[in-house]
Amino acid sequence: LSTVPIDKGWVATNLFQYQGFWHTATQLQGVLTCQQHFQAKPDDLLLITTPKSGTTWLKAVAFATVNRNRYSSSDHPLLTTNPHDLVPFLERKLFIDNQNPDLTSFTYPRLFSTHLPYVSLPKSVEQLGCKMVYLCRDPRDAFISLWHFTNKLRTQTLGTLSLEEAFERFCRGVCLYGPAWDHIMDYWKKSLERPENVFFLKFEEMKAQPSVQLKRLAEFFGCPFSKEEEKKGVVEEILKLCSFDHLSNLNVNKTGKLSSGEENSTFFRKGEVGDWINHLTPQMIKKFEQITEEKFHGSGLQF
Ligand code: A3P
Repeated sequence: LSTVPIDKGWVATNLFQYQGFWHTATQLQGVLTCQQHFQAKPDDLLLITTPKSGTTWLKAVAFATVNRNRYSSSDHPLLTTNPHDLVPFLERKLFIDNQNPDLTSFTYPRLFSTHLPYVSLPKSVEQLGCKMVYLCRDPRDAFISLWHFTNKLRTQTLGTLSLEEAFERFCRGVCLYGPAWDHIMDYWKKSLERPENVFFLKFEEMKAQPSVQLKRLAEFFGCPFSKEEEKKGVVEEILKLCSFDHLSNLNVNKTGKLSSGEENSTFFRKGEVGDWINHLTPQMIKKFEQITEEKFHGSGLQF
């Protein structure tokens, strides 16, 4: 795929296709280990996303909702810990180099996250009927976000990845967990078949109606907000705690690093809808439209 193959995290260029989706060698090892060794429990909650679709936000909101009776606003873990360390990735963290990670410190229900496509999920997740929230984003915005993110990580050692090259790879689907359209479509279909197990949500819907979506999410998790909680403003409190402005300005997210080494600040850029308009050329926009039409045709799914 490249004259200079690099196998390092998000900037990797030597990727491998497995079950129709692309991974680095290290990541693939995590996928395989997770498939073989992760044993779900029936009440586990899985947060599933395509990269750069708002994973950080979903982790924060889900963690704060599920654990809302456990912490007060002054000692909340989100004030001192990045959401990625509170809701770890299965294949990118827990199982990446460990067949038997220590999960004893997890409170119930356990919250896990993953970028795995549906086809690659560990079998016990489906067999036990675990609940999954799938958050996706307009592929145009996810692409622009991914391009910025990749370049933030590349600049230390490598040259900048041009928008054109990144675009060409993204459209071919040869990027981590790509093709994005197939990833989204597989979960969309599952959410129609099994709505009690798969809650399909768009970043754009969260931005447009945050409190409506948060209440739906809490209901899906089995911990709906009571009338009294709503009156007390608990929904708004959670949304404020997890907002882009609040999270991105916390010291831990300005200067801290994840336990896996990435700088927390790389997960916060603009947090807006429609930034693609500032980057894509008319030809790129047309190509995106063509692919989206081809992949989503007849599915009822639109961005
Ligand atoms: P942009 O690059 O468009 O700003 P992920 O968390 O899946 O890596 O996605 C990162 C994207 O989500 C980035 O998008 C980031 O700014 C945005 N984001 C992070 N936290 C957010 C929050 N609390 N609310 C809204 N968007 C957020």
